[in-house]
Amino acid sequence: MDTDALIEWVLERSVSLASTGEAPPLLAKAIHHAVFPGGARVRPRLCVAVAAACGEADCLPLAAAAGAAIELMHCGSLVHDDLPAFDAAELRRGNPSVHAAFGEPMAILAGDALIVMAFETLVREGARNPLACLQLCRILAEMTGSPRGIVAGQAWESEPVINLTAYHQAKTAALFVAATMSGAASAGADPARWRGLGIRLGEAYQIADDLRDVLLGEDVLGKPAGQDQAHSRPSAVEAFGLEGAFGLFSQSVEAAAAAVPDCAGAPFLRQIVAAQAARLVPKSLMQRVA
Ligand code: IPE
Ligand code: IPE
Ligand code: MG
Ligand code: MG
Repeated sequence: MDTDALIEWVLERSVSLASTGEAPPLLAKAIHHAVFPGGARVRPRLCVAVAAACGEADCLPLAAAAGAAIELMHCGSLVHDDLPAFDAAELRRGNPSVHAAFGEPMAILAGDALIVMAFETLVREGARNPLACLQLCRILAEMTGSPRGIVAGQAWESEPVINLTAYHQAKTAALFVAATMSGAASAGADPARWRGLGIRLGEAYQIADDLRDVLLGEDVLGKPAGQDQAHSRPSAVEAFGLEGAFGLFSQSVEAAAAAVPDCAGAPFLRQIVAAQAARLVPKSLMQRVA
């Protein structure tokens, strides 16, 4: 099985285990809707790529499971993010968001279930490697909660004064850090060496998302456009203008490539960074403002 298929297999297994027997049928459907069809699956693929770059092939199943756990957390965070209390978004990945399709109470619960499912997945799939499993649980907890995780990141939006760096690092970079560090931990390598790459990638990803929010439409994005201005969220475009944000994006991509630690697979990882940068911010997008 290739590693993308392995990631999908773990996701399917976790979602179906939560949907069997006595599971409330609408909750089961809402959870499935949040995970399938997926988005770009960037975080689990990054996790597996890091494991492949610094370990042996036999670590890939654990890395795919760790990546799937991060993806479940990501999907849960998007369900909550789309709720009326946060971004009030009716569209996600080209489909109605979970609360639009199943109602608000069910969306809150589906998001809660996905957060728990992420840890359950790690414990189930990592049981044969208890030490790595413990490390993976700790990494995911740190990158989900407070002060450095996505919960803290979302909370900055409700603070009277926003610490922009802490906001972006916690809201977006946290799960990229979870992906790079978990990839390393799955391969038996030192996760701490991989934190910097996650931070730099998350930074670049957030700037790309800010640019795409302004320059692309709902049809391409699969989610509402123009959200940063609509919700008065601080963004790279608001702070530096379009040209400034493009410049910052290029710098962040270079910084991400430079942050790849020395390892056998470093050139391969740098190629992935460049390919993701070109996918998110293609030259055609840059030419629109030139
Ligand atoms: C959306 O993440 C939230 C951000 C941090 C910008 P993705 O752009 O990775 O969403 P999917 O999973 O591909 O839909
Ligand atoms: C979502 O951020 C980040 C988390 C759920 C942690 P955004 O609100 O900026 O992302 P989109 O634009 O809805 O995907
Ligand atoms: Mg949001
Ligand atoms: Mg949002």
